[in-house]
Amino acid sequence: MPTLSPVPKGSLFFAPMESITDEAFRKTVLKLYPEWDYLATDFLRVPSAGHYPRKYIIKHFGVDLSNDEQIKNKTMFQILTSHRAFTIDMVKEILDLGYPWLDINLGCPSNTVTKNGGGSSLLLDLDLLRTLIRNIRSNFNGRLTAKVRTGFHHTNDFETIIKILNDEGVELITVHGRTRDMMYKVPAVWSFIEKAVKLSHVPIIGNGDVWCTSDVDRMMNETGCHGVMVARGALKSPWMAQDYRMGHFNETSIERAKRIKTFFKEYRHQLELENISDRGLLKQTKSVSRFMFEGLDLGEVHRRKLLLAQTIPEIYAVFESL
Ligand SMILES: Cc1cc2nc3c(=O)[nH]c(=O)nc-3n(C[C@H](O)[C@H](O)[C@H](O)COP(=O)(O)O)c2cc1C
Repeated sequence: MPTLSPVPKGSLFFAPMESITDEAFRKTVLKLYPEWDYLATDFLRVPSAGHYPRKYIIKHFGVDLSNDEQIKNKTMFQILTSHRAFTIDMVKEILDLGYPWLDINLGCPSNTVTKNGGGSSLLLDLDLLRTLIRNIRSNFNGRLTAKVRTGFHHTNDFETIIKILNDEGVELITVHGRTRDMMYKVPAVWSFIEKAVKLSHVPIIGNGDVWCTSDVDRMMNETGCHGVMVARGALKSPWMAQDYRMGHFNETSIERAKRIKTFFKEYRHQLELENISDRGLLKQTKSVSRFMFEGLDLGEVHRRKLLLAQTIPEIYAVFESL
């Protein structure tokens, strides 16, 4: 496995998002906004019975993207596992397929996931967490990272969690400043990112409620984090990293409309390369555009029209009318 060069300070990460950051989406982002330093797959659930064919794992990362070494080096392959799942089999497969970067999801809050012992519920038993990470580490010689919430019900164990991840050889930790019980309801608590920075020997990436370029600077200044990961803000403005790097801070509604059109033209192209059905195209376009109308004149009107669209021409007529 090639040794990856260290993640530079100030790096910007496009966050993993289930059903969003698939191959077509990441190809669109990589093509239009190469200013994002790192990206992530959404989580691949590790099975508790049987195993996935290799083809399925490759498809999750992306068939074309899997042929590009540079892209592989800048993309976290995220897995979502539990103590019951066949984690080590999956880790070995990922390694064998030549993916150099494995990220462990320790944050997913959904009931379906946590009632099966996955995602954020792995933060409930710290001895088991330590064993899991140790086993993964001893079977994966690429870059191992983790994305973590500040706890499940409370934050009492936060320091211990960061320490365990450090002790067991995790090389970079993304801290989303909310417990599982906070879901998305209250603002992310950035002071936990700062706390992690002070405790950790490995880089801490801050995550939670970065909605615009000035939030990026604010998070770095307030917490001292090594880099910033953006999820919903990046869905709202996939070009955020470009604006950040170019120091372009005030986007007009006209500029925004133009960028939305460009984004969906390329995204459609990428989805069509995968021979997506009309139904799939409609569903993905609605899902991916959910935050993009914010900041547009009459944005809410356009958003509602788009949600009501039933055909491909209808949906693209909405974009043309912006
Ligand atoms: C639609 C959606 C899907 C998500 N899927 C994942 C996922 O697959 N893996 C993960 O680690 N986090 C996932 N998250 C959490 C985000 O990566 C991020 O931690 C969270 O949204 C907080 O960051 P933000 O305030 O920038 O949105 C998801 C979030 C959203 C909104």
